[in-house]
Amino acid sequence: MNMISKKFPAAALIDGQWITSAKTFSVSDPATGAEVATVPDLGAGDATRAIDAARRALPAWSAKTAKERGAILKRWFDLLTAETETLAQLMTTEQGKPLAEARAEVAYGASFIEWFAEEGKRAYGRTIPTTAASKRYLTIKQPIGVVAAIAPWNFPIAMITRKVAPALASGCTIVVKPAAETPLCALAIAKLAMDAGLPAGVLNIVTTTDAPAVGKVFCDDSRVRKLSFTGSTEVGKVLYRQCADTVKKLTLELGGNAPLVVFDDADLDQAVAGAMASKYRNAGQTCVCANRILVQSGIYDRFAAALVEAVKKLVVGPGLEAGTNMGPLISSEAIAKVETLVSDAVKQGAKVLTGGALDAAGPLFYRPSVVGDVTPDMSIVREEIFGPVAALVRFDTEADAIRLANDTPFGLAAYVFTQNLSRAWRVAERLDAGMVGVNEGIFSNEVVPFGGVKESGLGREGAAEGLEEYLEVKYICLGAIDA
Ligand code: SIN
Repeated sequence: MNMISKKFPAAALIDGQWITSAKTFSVSDPATGAEVATVPDLGAGDATRAIDAARRALPAWSAKTAKERGAILKRWFDLLTAETETLAQLMTTEQGKPLAEARAEVAYGASFIEWFAEEGKRAYGRTIPTTAASKRYLTIKQPIGVVAAIAPWNFPIAMITRKVAPALASGCTIVVKPAAETPLCALAIAKLAMDAGLPAGVLNIVTTTDAPAVGKVFCDDSRVRKLSFTGSTEVGKVLYRQCADTVKKLTLELGGNAPLVVFDDADLDQAVAGAMASKYRNAGQTCVCANRILVQSGIYDRFAAALVEAVKKLVVGPGLEAGTNMGPLISSEAIAKVETLVSDAVKQGAKVLTGGALDAAGPLFYRPSVVGDVTPDMSIVREEIFGPVAALVRFDTEADAIRLANDTPFGLAAYVFTQNLSRAWRVAERLDAGMVGVNEGIFSNEVVPFGGVKESGLGREGAAEGLEEYLEVKYICLGAIDA
């Protein structure tokens, strides 16, 4: 069989079988353009077969106790953690992020499995005080059923485990479509799940380049009771519409346009560190990356200078090379988008303070950049950059900052830097965002609810809220009680 490495098959997973196909697609290293592996290019029929398998596996899997399911998840966590180095290398090779970030993502991805292995045991129902002497009311929580998940390329492990772990912990079975750019990590962690003792059909992985066809099967099949998607708002809206006919439950983690607000009373070092962490992680390719850095006039020049100094220290290069802390972007389309946004901003009066061009490391490497004198009407702050460019917008008052920050259809993440506690509370409460970092640029982990408002999505992942997404509430009325 075609293998990714000695341990991991380059094959899709349906009903516990590793599936090959005459039609394949190539996965390449964004740092070098070299082919890393080929994997099966499956279609609509295969997606239906995967749903068949997940449906068949559902009764036995959901009948297990949460403790039994948790024990398998715990073994999966142990196996995945033991393979950290292999998985991190694989991730860097197919996605491009520096090895240190890839290792951190393996740990982040594994943390969802460990956490939901326990949280699945806490799917509590309620007893509700009665309104009639002869009746008693209670609720139980039950798995929603077969789940379909569509995962993005920017976090090839964590965005899968953030969906799969709560689904499996709650007793659901699942079919996953990984991104065509990064299927290898998905297949590797699926192999480890099988090694951990996951029964056939509970987890299925459909690799494909035909996302619209496979996505349509997921949406149209009435046996799929829940769709979880992480990706663009544009695609999320299509899936949302397509799921209407079967009235599926949806979790949508969509695009963002995060404001990072730096007030005059911020601690400068804290604000720069927060902006660096939020903006340049994964070369700016996260949904929660600071997309608009709103800086109050009194600190603007000092902040811009300090940010430029910090950005100049970033080392750009292939993620596998020691010392690299920023890798390539995922594709030539991503590069073209960043180049257009920067050149349009410059034409309209913005100034490149550092970067603003391709890096000598290769065609998919863009220099970490800071662009100043950006105004709120420019595309660079109205669209999601998804690249390593910090766009600085000047503002005068707190009211201006809140108005500018909320002037977007998106509402995923926001960041506020101030030493004034009252202002921190006030602004955090007034920002239209699902998540707010106060004096902090990194806030994601397994125990907190990740998700957005407005066109950034529906539902939450991680935390107790993330388990609820895979559960239905059933109300039971016990009648004829002889009181
Ligand atoms: C994302 O970009 O969607 C995920 C980022 C995170 O989990 O912190």
